[in-house]
Amino acid sequence: MNKFQKLLKKKHKSKIVCLTAYSKNIASILDNYCDIILVGDSLGSVLYNFKSTKSVTLDMMIEHSKSVKMGIKKSILVVDMPFKTYRNNNEALQNAKKIISKTKCDAVKLEGGKKIINIIKFLVKNKIRVMGHVGLLPQSEKGNFSFKGKKLIERNKILNDAKLLESSGVFSIVLECVETSLAKIITDKVNIPTIGIGASHHCDGQILVVDDLIGLNPINVRFVKKYCNIQKVIKNAVLNFAKDIKNKNFPKEKHSYLIKNI
Ligand code: KIV
Repeated sequence: MNKFQKLLKKKHKSKIVCLTAYSKNIASILDNYCDIILVGDSLGSVLYNFKSTKSVTLDMMIEHSKSVKMGIKKSILVVDMPFKTYRNNNEALQNAKKIISKTKCDAVKLEGGKKIINIIKFLVKNKIRVMGHVGLLPQSEKGNFSFKGKKLIERNKILNDAKLLESSGVFSIVLECVETSLAKIITDKVNIPTIGIGASHHCDGQILVVDDLIGLNPINVRFVKKYCNIQKVIKNAVLNFAKDIKNKNFPKEKHSYLIKNI
């Protein structure tokens, strides 16, 4: 059974664990505990301070993914296709192939439903594994970053998008900031795993940006649970390093290179 078949089997058995990573050392820690590691275009805001993910380039995604790949042995590696890299079939296929050949990732993720369904079908027909993404779509958002599924028309659209994505052959769907009861309906209605971020416990799996959950990225949003305060750990280490230098406690002989009897 391959990694994707194993993932699909989990839908009715056990929850799916996913996280983002942007570099090798973090990815190698996550790999043992995750089913999917995503190189998300959230790296634009988390690492580069961009106002939106729209400024993230294909080359940035490729370089970070190459690094992440070095840390992964078992998880499914998914890479986000950035804004304006999948505007038509040929552009999408060319860029997806470039991402896969340069990074050796397992799949790519595209944001959207009906609007891009023919592009997704084209990728799948060309043997590209695709992860879908509905609900809040940062690449298309014009300032309204609140949760989705408040009004019936919007709920129907998101549900319909999820069903279309399933029928187009994606292997799973990220539900971002989707209202709880809608996330349940979608998860019940599709036969592929739904992966939630701010979309309740009803989803088949969960994803968070790892920098958020370890407290490295200083954001406070409702859907993030912080599991440690890594900033505090780093601050303490750096403070002690500075103290050691000032007190001449570092470096010691054991940290230095010395030829005796020279
Ligand atoms: O870019 C990203 O990190 C994502 C996740 C939040 C799902 O798309």
